[in-house]
Amino acid sequence: TLRCAKALQLTLAVIKPDAVAHPLILEALHQKILKNKFIIVRSKDLIWRRQDSERFYAEHKGRFFYQRLVEFMSSGPMRAYILARENAISQWRELMGPTKVFRARYIAPGTIRALYGLTDTRNTTHGSDSVESAQREIAFFFPEFSVEEWMEQTEPSFR
Ligand code: PPS
Repeated sequence: TLRCAKALQLTLAVIKPDAVAHPLILEALHQKILKNKFIIVRSKDLIWRRQDSERFYAEHKGRFFYQRLVEFMSSGPMRAYILARENAISQWRELMGPTKVFRARYIAPGTIRALYGLTDTRNTTHGSDSVESAQREIAFFFPEFSVEEWMEQTEPSFR
């Protein structure tokens, strides 16, 4: 059989409440995911309680933006995706662009945050920044999902 040399990597991508609130932006982001050859492994729409938000961002507790970040992320519906691709983590982060929207517009026009971001808080999307955080964040959003099982069941030629 033909084996694909490229290894699939998983990442967690989140469309934040500012973007989910706009159906055309939500659709544009969904299309961008497909166009960039990500496999959508799972997706769900959800709303965080404040305590979910606090738990997810615990590492940022004490930073000046913590309160507003926590508040914003529990302010309305989000969409979470588990995405698979070669280099999924860095590819998704590259599509998002820099965290700060005005910086994104300056140095990375055309990225998601440059196009759709509103402020440094309402910056449209989240993406895991390492293999370790992808693992933690996938488990946080999709506790019922087993990475190992999925990897085992996935067409071996993919791996
Ligand atoms: S760091 O220093 O690398 O940990 O920070 P960074 O990864 O850029 O950001 C971590 C999350 O905090 C959010 N953030 C902010 N929110 C509001 N205001 C300001 N100034 C701000 N700076 C960073 C940022 O959007 C990140 O959220 P996620 O959900 O991880 O994208």
